[in-house]
Amino acid sequence: MATNITWHPSLSRSERNTFRKQRGFTIWFTGLSASGKSTIATALEQHLLHLGLAAYRLDGDNVRFGLNKDLGFTEKDRNENIRRIAEVAKLFADSSTIAITSFISPYRADRAIARDLHAAAVTHPDDEPLAFIEVFVDIPIEIAEQRDPKGLYKKAREGKIPEFTGISAPYEEPENAEIRIRSDQKSVEEAVKEIVEYLDSKGLLK
Ligand code: PPS
Repeated sequence: MATNITWHPSLSRSERNTFRKQRGFTIWFTGLSASGKSTIATALEQHLLHLGLAAYRLDGDNVRFGLNKDLGFTEKDRNENIRRIAEVAKLFADSSTIAITSFISPYRADRAIARDLHAAAVTHPDDEPLAFIEVFVDIPIEIAEQRDPKGLYKKAREGKIPEFTGISAPYEEPENAEIRIRSDQKSVEEAVKEIVEYLDSKGLLK
């Protein structure tokens, strides 16, 4: 951390939310490659936009073309990938936008850091912590491997991709995700409906 820096007081989130007419928060998708997290996250983003809400999705592959193009797939790089995304999602959420992230985010500790960052994002006396909803897109690895839309599991089995999640690198399943979706047993529309009902039940879409 740099020295000689001073936190500048910001507007309250409730003032921002009132004038933007919506609450900002983060929906954090996690799951294996080919679990369907990006597909569900994109459909959710579209659904929320059609409700008139500002929502924006940050995607694993896409962010690695820009912000995180200096990072690979070692444990250390994945830690840094998720740390940066968590900070960016927090900023979107703080701006009264619904941040939707779809990253494998394979380590429990990294997801906990992302959650804690949102809980700690209280910089004004009127602020409440930012809501953070973890969505575990659960799929048996055999089915993800059969799907293999990008041919990555095949390459990983052939030893052409090192440290591939689920094959030669770990995926630590969430223990307390707010929502768990068996994506091989539900349609994309059903998954979106379940998430929207959850958000509604928590008063987040008002
Ligand atoms: S992580 O673990 O959260 O940092 O990964 P993420 O930023 O979500 O990037 C995952 C996408 O990168 C591609 N890819 C790999 N995934 C896993 N392991 C390895 N070694 C790897 N190399 C490349 C892959 O397309 C992932 O996209 P999804 O959408 O998950 O299939």
